[in-house]
Amino acid sequence: MLQVAINGYGTIGKRVADAVREQPDMEVLGVAKTRPNFEAETAIQKGYPLYAAIEERADQFAEAGLEIAGQVEELVDEADVVVDATPSGIGAQNKELYEEYDTPALYQGGEDADVADVSFNARSNFSEAVDADHVRVVSCNTTGLSRVVAPLREAYGVEKVRATLVRRGGDPGQTSRGPINDILPNPVTVPSHHGPDVNTIFPDLDIDTLGMKVPATLMHMHSLNVTLEEDVDDTEVRELLADESRLFLIPEALAIDGSGKLKEYALDAGRPRGDLWENCIWEESISTVGRDLYLFQGIHQESDVVPENVDAIRAVTGLADAEESTTTTDDALGIGL
Ligand SMILES: NC(=O)c1ccc[n+]([C@@H]2O[C@H](COP(=O)([O-])OP(=O)(O)OC[C@H]3O[C@@H](n4cnc5c(N)ncnc54)[C@H](OP(=O)(O)O)[C@@H]3O)[C@@H](O)[C@H]2O)c1
Repeated sequence: MLQVAINGYGTIGKRVADAVREQPDMEVLGVAKTRPNFEAETAIQKGYPLYAAIEERADQFAEAGLEIAGQVEELVDEADVVVDATPSGIGAQNKELYEEYDTPALYQGGEDADVADVSFNARSNFSEAVDADHVRVVSCNTTGLSRVVAPLREAYGVEKVRATLVRRGGDPGQTSRGPINDILPNPVTVPSHHGPDVNTIFPDLDIDTLGMKVPATLMHMHSLNVTLEEDVDDTEVRELLADESRLFLIPEALAIDGSGKLKEYALDAGRPRGDLWENCIWEESISTVGRDLYLFQGIHQESDVVPENVDAIRAVTGLADAEESTTTTDDALGIGL
């Protein structure tokens, strides 16, 4: 069993830990945090050995009545691979630690691309991460865009992608984020950073992105226009996208009119934390005008990168190829609504 360390046990880290635990070929060696809080307490309740990420603050855990298993250095030393899920910028600072113990490391999308040898999306470029020492799992938005672009490129060729990203102001737990009563062009300059980030996966893709932030916490929404290299009809595109396990085409009959009902659906379906690992594409929004394809998709920012992290673990350790890994991940988590 592959031993996986998770450094940074917040929104992404705790989900990755639970997903790793579900896999048949890997287990959670431990998780690291800087301080005790509700997430530290639940880590212990779930049976994850808890490590102190900052030695000088280790006493705080005992003071809060939480037993730690050691320091993060010990965890990194013993692990076969470490998933860094610390806040943006901290991963780059931690790189030295992973190099010191010669432990392959995954970073998250909040890090600059140059932190890693390769930026990763399982559907698009799994093989580029095989045996790499440092891999960056791209952001929630880049993951969502890449999953749609990959099959379209293969089937029809893509001339140009234009995407408007209506982004949630913050995650539900991020009480200090906003806006709370506004609609912000964010960033106000075009293109937003998302297009160049998609180019870390598809270097030759012509893509422009625009970003906004709105008073919402549940999900992002993408309005997508892809100019294909050939005429297609919408039925054909629907069939193509329906075949992708990490794309969920929301049937009209479900009467899901937005992110709120999508999350409610996920909770009703028994999804942990109401997570939606798949892109959620409104089926009737998939429309074509000549070579232009249009669609709306909801992206659950807290969870779509989770299966990607699991696949990246297999890529860097050479545990499985793309097809075997994604199938194993999907089966273990129950992906495919
Ligand atoms: N949330 C999203 O929507 C989302 C989506 C995709 C990608 N990402 C990316 O994923 C990464 C993590 O984001 P997140 O949303 O999970 O952040 P988060 O909820 O703030 O979690 C980060 C965790 O890292 C811990 N931490 C802070 N400093 C640390 C250190 N020096 N060593 C070890 N742990 C440390 C924090 O624990 P303490 O409380 O103990 O300080 C916290 O539990 C970022 O790169 C982000 O851009 C986030």
